[in-house]
Formats: sequence, C-alpha cells, structure tokens
Amino acid sequence: MTHPLQHLFDNNARWAAGETTDDPHYFQRLSTQQKPDYLWIGCADSRVPANEIIGLDPGEVFVHRNVANVVVHTDMNCLSVVQYAVDILKVKHIIVCGHYGCGGVLAAMENTQHGLIDNWLRHIKDVYRKHQEEINAIGDLAERQARVCEINILEQMANICYTTIVQNAWQRGQALAVHGWVYGLTDGLVKDLGVIIDKPEQLPTAYRMTNSVTED
Ligand code: CO
Repeated sequence: MTHPLQHLFDNNARWAAGETTDDPHYFQRLSTQQKPDYLWIGCADSRVPANEIIGLDPGEVFVHRNVANVVVHTDMNCLSVVQYAVDILKVKHIIVCGHYGCGGVLAAMENTQHGLIDNWLRHIKDVYRKHQEEINAIGDLAERQARVCEINILEQMANICYTTIVQNAWQRGQALAVHGWVYGLTDGLVKDLGVIIDKPEQLPTAYRMTNSVTED
C-alpha cells in the first residue's frame, strides 16, 4: 500500500534534487548556520506563504505565523520567536504582514460564535472596538473590512515595539525597524502601510521603558 502522502514525499525529493543541481553543497552550507535579516510575522492563511511572496530562499527569513498575525504580550510562542530573532539572529527588520480578506479579522467583526478561536479573535475585536469611530464612518462593507485588516497590522506593529525585547535592542544601539505590510490575495502584491518604527521616540510615552539593568 502506498503512503497516503506519497505525493508530498515525491515533491520533496524533486525539490531537494532541484536545489542541489547548480549548487551541490546548498543544504550542507545552510545546515551550518542561518543568518536571516528579516523576521516575518504573518497570518497562518495557506494563501500567504512568506518565502514565496518576497522571493527569499530558506535561511533568509525567520517566520512566525498565527491566525490573523496577532502579537500578544502574553503569547510565549510569539515572544520566543521575536526574542530569538532579535537577540540571537539579530534580524534588522520585523515585517508584520497581514492580508486583505483575512478570515480572522472578518470573524472578529461579526457577533457569531466560532468556538475556542473566539478567545484569540478577542484581541482583534478589541482593536476593532478601539477604532470603531473611524471604521464605522466607512460606508462600504468591503472597504470597512479592508481597513480593519490594515488597522490590525498597525496595532500588531505597535505591540511588537512595546515588548522589552525590541526596546532593549534599541537601547543597546541595535538597528531594528518594524514594518507593516498588507498582502492582496487577488493580485499577489504586498503594499507597505507607510509606517516604519525604528526608535522608541515613535511610541506613546506610557509604553516607553528604560532598562534599569546596567550593562557592561
Ligand atoms: Co488571515
């Protein structure tokens, strides 16, 4: 009996062979170290694959994905990724990439229950409520949904910057810029939301933290 996922193993063997055709030591070299300049925080949506969208090879982008690209300061999973990427890999850019038509964002705008995931979507619902005035002023539903996708990205960018991980990196003079992008499912293109955060002065005072630990 053939393995139910045999086609995936076949794909993998073909891919690995293809990668080493022109560069026989490709995987050996990659296995010794990774030096990505970018951390990608994106949606788990199967249509938004990080490497493919920005044309990067394995080893070039560190990736964390969850439903609706949410950064929560009590999420040990996301925080661990950010800390490793910033402190150890020393990425220079963190890209929060959401996408239009995000199911998580759209669900958070509704009042229907979806099960356990509602507890995760609450974070987006809070974003929605915080910006309710701006959002409700948009008459067209599709435009309103698109704007909530964008606002969610901007809020998650801020959440990353509020972490001690990012603020300590800035304090020790490490170059680190946080970007917000939105991906279009219908055209495959990313759009920069036009905000780059690379210093604590860009954050609201209440969230700026100084490091009381003296470093040598
Ligand atoms: Co999504």
